[in-house]
Amino acid sequence: MVQSQQSPLALVVLISGNGSNLQAIIDAIHRGELPATIRAVISNRPQALGLERAQRAGIPAMVIDHHRFADRDSFDAALQTAIDAYQPALVVLAGFMRILSPAFVRHYHGRMLNVHPSLLPAFRGLDTHRRVLAAGVTEHGLSIHFVTAELDGGPVIIQNKVPILVGDDAATLAARVQDAEHRLYPRVIRWFAEGRVRLHDHQILFDGRPLAAPLSEEAA
Ligand code: GRF
Repeated sequence: MVQSQQSPLALVVLISGNGSNLQAIIDAIHRGELPATIRAVISNRPQALGLERAQRAGIPAMVIDHHRFADRDSFDAALQTAIDAYQPALVVLAGFMRILSPAFVRHYHGRMLNVHPSLLPAFRGLDTHRRVLAAGVTEHGLSIHFVTAELDGGPVIIQNKVPILVGDDAATLAARVQDAEHRLYPRVIRWFAEGRVRLHDHQILFDGRPLAAPLSEEAA
């Protein structure tokens, strides 16, 4: 039995930079393709371009600068308080470049998503496009996953391959991966809104059934 979430689904989006995924989510909502509302955008960096994108869309935008905190736990505690004031049903990490403490991650278990630019579990961490090219692998892509305490290690909902073309550099490859991110992230959030995807302990349920392997765009 698939139980849909509140409609529209209340989101808080966390960013650190450009915010192109945030923009894709805003655009999908405006086109009527995503039954969600972004209650706030929070950045840990004051100069993040995504803050302007939020303001342009009339979304409350807030900075919680991690430099102003003595340690990770106090930053995470302040971030959690700020997020919870908006009572989101889902927290969306969209280029949020911070490692999160286990207590913070536990608090949002099953209601926090991340998009990572690699075919996880390959190439966890930063700078994936350059590392993929340096490794000479033939496939690259992206993964959208629930966030758990293990860095880039949470259960993957969907994964899409992206070709590596002759002459690619990190920028061209990143752009191709991001195109796919912008298509898929709003779609996964819609599944969450519709109750089609959820996390039970550490098992993803899709349409009420355990997901044995990540979905792909074609399969979905
Ligand atoms: C994305 O490529 C995402 O995979 C990674 O950070 C990047 C953020 O880009 N986590 P943007 O800020 O959404 O443009």
